[in-house]
Amino acid sequence: MAKRRVAILISGRGSNMAALLAAARSEDFPAEIALVLSNRPAAKGLAAAREAGLATAIVDHTRFGQDREAFERALQAELEKQQIDILCLAGFMRLLTPWLVSRWHGRMLNIHPALLPAFKGLDTHARALAAGVKIHGATVHFVIPEMDSGPVIAQGALAVRDDDTPDTLAARVLALEHRIYPAALRLVAEERVRVVDGRCVIDGAPVSDHVLLVPADEA
Ligand code: GRF
Repeated sequence: MAKRRVAILISGRGSNMAALLAAARSEDFPAEIALVLSNRPAAKGLAAAREAGLATAIVDHTRFGQDREAFERALQAELEKQQIDILCLAGFMRLLTPWLVSRWHGRMLNIHPALLPAFKGLDTHARALAAGVKIHGATVHFVIPEMDSGPVIAQGALAVRDDDTPDTLAARVLALEHRIYPAALRLVAEERVRVVDGRCVIDGAPVSDHVLLVPADEA
């Protein structure tokens, strides 16, 4: 099968983008990163993508005022120009409307720094600590119009330590993110992920390809 053409959408640092890029460098990876697109001209990850020699694009949402659909039309035009097959949101801080989401149904992935459906939204690590949960992690899911929802493709989990702060927890969860996002993209690009009754069924791959559990004494 030809490699799937992937666009990564970022707004900031781009460490998940870097993890996807690193994975895509290997010859047997079923996807290539054809475009890195940012809504923020100053996004750090954009500079890194340029340095890596990738095609980049900026669609600055502030140019469109309150008109979300006009912003999304401009974004869609960039994606079409590069004949993108799969979209990976990686720290992309814009809510998307059904106009765009429906166009990418089953082909748009997001990574969220919590074990969904727990802790949707922002400040997930501080909220997990405040709630006193003992297990925390990250989720890769298909995007649906409702924020931080949609069928779960892959999750990574670790034990929360008594002395964790939001920062220490964020750092360990981020390391998990960098492992589960490439794994989830691989499964989607290989067309191993079917959505049945709103849930992902993974064909022909071991559970360890989409579930990452850090042993409690290593977390
Ligand atoms: C990550 O924690 C991701 O889960 C969330 O935003 C953050 C982006 O970080 N959606 P980076 O830009 O990939 O470093």
